[in-house]
Amino acid sequence: MSEVLVIGAAGKTGRAVTRALLARGAVVRAAVRPGSTSTPYAGPSVHVVPLDLVSGTGLPVAVAGVDAVYHLAPNVHPDEVGMARRVAEAAAAEGISHFAFHSVLHPDDSSMPHHVRKGEAERTVRDVVPSAVVLRPAAYHQNLVDAALAGRIAVPYSLDTPFTNVDLDDVAEVAALVLTEEGHEGSTHDLAGSESLSVRDLAAVATEVLERPVETVAVPLQEWLDGAAASLPEQARDDLAAMFRSYDREGLVGDPSDLRALLGREPRTWRDVLVRAA
Ligand SMILES: NC(=O)c1ccc[n+]([C@@H]2O[C@H](COP(=O)([O-])OP(=O)(O)OC[C@H]3O[C@@H](n4cnc5c(N)ncnc54)[C@H](OP(=O)(O)O)[C@@H]3O)[C@@H](O)[C@H]2O)c1
Repeated sequence: MSEVLVIGAAGKTGRAVTRALLARGAVVRAAVRPGSTSTPYAGPSVHVVPLDLVSGTGLPVAVAGVDAVYHLAPNVHPDEVGMARRVAEAAAAEGISHFAFHSVLHPDDSSMPHHVRKGEAERTVRDVVPSAVVLRPAAYHQNLVDAALAGRIAVPYSLDTPFTNVDLDDVAEVAALVLTEEGHEGSTHDLAGSESLSVRDLAAVATEVLERPVETVAVPLQEWLDGAAASLPEQARDDLAAMFRSYDREGLVGDPSDLRALLGREPRTWRDVLVRAA
């Protein structure tokens, strides 16, 4: 039975990847930020270890004896590249070749600084662990599920640009697959959903599935900056504003064929995700 270290295990992605690994019979070493109030997915095969990605404190213990590592960085973190280097070097020092890095769709899109950092992190990881698998997910369906359930999807970008959003559980299933199965070494995969839908389309599907009105609101970017984003660190605000400007211009669209092939089935749709959530 393989033991897999999951970084950021108490976060949205880390919890989903943990669940998917358990479903494949793996044991999970769940790395959690010291002092975090978030909790990882719990289970008898989940062992929590403290790890601070900024300082690297806890890394040697976290990687000791595991068969594989799943690395992700906290969203829009300025030191994403340094984190990737520290985790990859710790894994390499332990002789671990089963390594997967959670990147993002279109990592080198120069209009989004946090995507560019992910591109640099990919290259850093590959320099240190050449066999590393890189997964590049589109935006998750789950980002908008709570808003849809509440009847109001408000976003600081166009309601009409296209997105091939992806089910986080599909992403997690692929992560668990590449970490526990041979034959994926050194591969890179876009993980995009198979439907191209605007926010307006997403709301229309939600209205139908939930059998109640789901409205859409295009919030002016400045209003978002002055309101919801007011307490964020300046760099995170700038990164997210750049992302929303890009979404406003062109959405975020990728090719679903890798995801389909890895899953061996159609990716779950927005409708599937809503039906499950409702
Ligand atoms: N959301 C999307 O649609 C999407 C799509 C593609 C890619 N991604 C990428 O996926 C990654 C994960 O996103 P997510 O939504 O799962 O984020 P998340 O829920 O915020 O999880 C990140 C985890 O990292 C932990 N963390 C923060 N600082 C840390 C530190 N110094 N040391 C160790 N752990 C630390 C957080 O712990 P605390 O909660 O205790 O701070 C949290 O548990 C991001 O890089 C994001 O860019 C997201």
